[in-house]
Amino acid sequence: MDLPPEFLTLYSRLDRQGPGLPEDVTWALGRLGLTGALRVCDAGCGTGADTVTLAEALPEAQVEGIDAVAAFIEAGQARVAGLPNAALRVGDMGALEGPYDLIWSAGAIYFLGVTEGLRAWRAALAPGGVVAFSQGVFLGGDEPQAVRDFWAPEPGLTDREGLRAQVAEAGYEILDTRLLVGAPWAAYYGSVAREIAALREGASPAMTAVLDNSAREVELWQEAPERIAYELVLARPD
Ligand SMILES: C[S@@+](CC[C@H](N)C(=O)[O-])C[C@H]1O[C@@H](n2cnc3c(N)ncnc32)[C@H](O)[C@@H]1O
Repeated sequence: MDLPPEFLTLYSRLDRQGPGLPEDVTWALGRLGLTGALRVCDAGCGTGADTVTLAEALPEAQVEGIDAVAAFIEAGQARVAGLPNAALRVGDMGALEGPYDLIWSAGAIYFLGVTEGLRAWRAALAPGGVVAFSQGVFLGGDEPQAVRDFWAPEPGLTDREGLRAQVAEAGYEILDTRLLVGAPWAAYYGSVAREIAALREGASPAMTAVLDNSAREVELWQEAPERIAYELVLARPD
């Protein structure tokens, strides 16, 4: 993935690169009844926040975090160093091999497309294996302009019903869903705002442009925090 170095400087400093809380991971594991010596992939793991939560919650499992961006994997290595059952590596989540009992993917499947991603992951699932992914959704009704502007970089975004259809089209059954609104976004954008402030002084024009762009994203979220949502979807092949 060809990302400007200034973008990587900002986002590599973050604990995570999108909204999500450890309790979202533990909720999913509980709903799926997953325990024991499993093989788990954190697909599009960024700097590995959820890889750590998965490895701690499943001490007998082997958890592999995979991301296309080497700078994120490098930044995350220190976090997994003390965890014997977690590892991070650079790789393409569109070409997973597995077999995995769980493919977890927070805020990343849209890079592949929901239907395309789920189709690609089917062959990487062990028998009985499941996928848990979070994906932006419109909540429906008359969306404020701030919500439309916020999601403009993701032109294919749909609502919860549309997301269900995309999952069904891939030949998966939805086991449960959880709407992620408010707290996970506040935590994420709080960290983004802090790092923007830390990098402002003496920033180059290119760095300033990246910081301004990210600050605009934070402002758009702040204009409609109850209307901007991820849906966490637990699904298994039909
Ligand atoms: C919004 S970030 C979420 C990161 C992390 N899951 C989190 O919640 O903090 C999406 C991640 O997907 C990664 N990504 C996008 N396409 C990818 C691909 N084909 N293979 C591996 N990683 C990919 C990006 O590099 C980025 O780190």
